[in-house]
Amino acid sequence: MQATVPAIPESTSTNERTRAGRPVPQVRGRAARTTVHTEHRLQPSDITVERVSRTFRGMNGHRRALKDVHLRIAPGEMVALIGPSGSGKSTLLRTLAGLLVADAGSGPIMVGGRTVQRDGRLAPDVRATRAGVGMVFQQFNLTDRLPVIVNVMVGMISRIPSWRVALGLFTDEERMVALHALARVGILDQAWQRSGTLSGGQQQRAAIARALVQRPGVILGDEPIASLDPASCRLVMEAFARINRQDGATVVISLHQIDGAVRFCSRIVALRDGSVVYDGPASGLCPDTLRSIYGEEFHAAGGDDALGDLCRPSAAEQPSRRMPVPA
Ligand SMILES: Nc1ncnc2c1ncn2[C@@H]1O[C@H](COP(=O)(O)OP(=O)(O)OP(=O)(O)O)[C@@H](O)[C@H]1O
Ligand SMILES: [Mg+2]
Repeated sequence: MQATVPAIPESTSTNERTRAGRPVPQVRGRAARTTVHTEHRLQPSDITVERVSRTFRGMNGHRRALKDVHLRIAPGEMVALIGPSGSGKSTLLRTLAGLLVADAGSGPIMVGGRTVQRDGRLAPDVRATRAGVGMVFQQFNLTDRLPVIVNVMVGMISRIPSWRVALGLFTDEERMVALHALARVGILDQAWQRSGTLSGGQQQRAAIARALVQRPGVILGDEPIASLDPASCRLVMEAFARINRQDGATVVISLHQIDGAVRFCSRIVALRDGSVVYDGPASGLCPDTLRSIYGEEFHAAGGDDALGDLCRPSAAEQPSRRMPVPA
């Protein structure tokens, strides 16, 4: 679908030159007249998981990381996946993305009406389905020595020949799409900077921009804010929320911070020992439920803070104590 590049939002700090001295104004200058493929709003995808189990076999015996998981996520939902360490969050996300195969006998995993896997076998066309699933990891997975914009354009690999990606040969249109994505996550100024020199929060937003240029119907985040300071956590979570709201992308994010989950996600799915133990609105979480999900990890996960807000009916009307807002 074609669209005219919208003007970069005023709130985005766009110097005429980036720190690396490269001019950026062509993004603004061409904004009104350049027609490129920047349409992000794809078919919002639903997710279906039926009776999915996953067992790891090792020297020390079996470990059932997922046990008969059932899940239905509607197109455009923003869902937090919570649970103590080892409860199966990463295993579920990797299984959803088709990066990990479930046990034989498991039911289907479908994304956007397409089968990712079934009965312990990946669908033959899983690569095409994966192209519509953006993944964001805790470790960013950027190539440090490459400029941010190149890392972002790598996200288009399903649409452009891999030899062009390997040689770094991108068209002006592809650069425009990447710059547009960087503007949306608020780091246009860093477009030509080496990725390894960005702050953690900026690197994670670059990783989100890379997922964004895939034009995904689904974005999966595996602890995307785990290694960030509170201000960066907020910026990254806001970027996910904006993409969810504006593009209609379905977003599923695993989080260790209960307060972040409750604040940004309308629905919470909690895992414990590989089973879904809570699936409902964030507002429906109660202190006893949180304690039963987390057990001894309850305090480490910020349960007290979230508990305080959940206990206090007027919390929504008060200034939030969660995730400090930077000046
Ligand atoms: N490749 C593997 N080989 C063996 N066991 C594994 C493997 N991957 C995960 N597991 C086990 O499966 C269980 C679930 O792991 P998983 O990484 O999904 O948990 P998690 O909820 O993401 O934990 P965390 O919050 O610490 O990231 C754990 O007991 C883990 O040790
Ligand atoms: Mg994990």
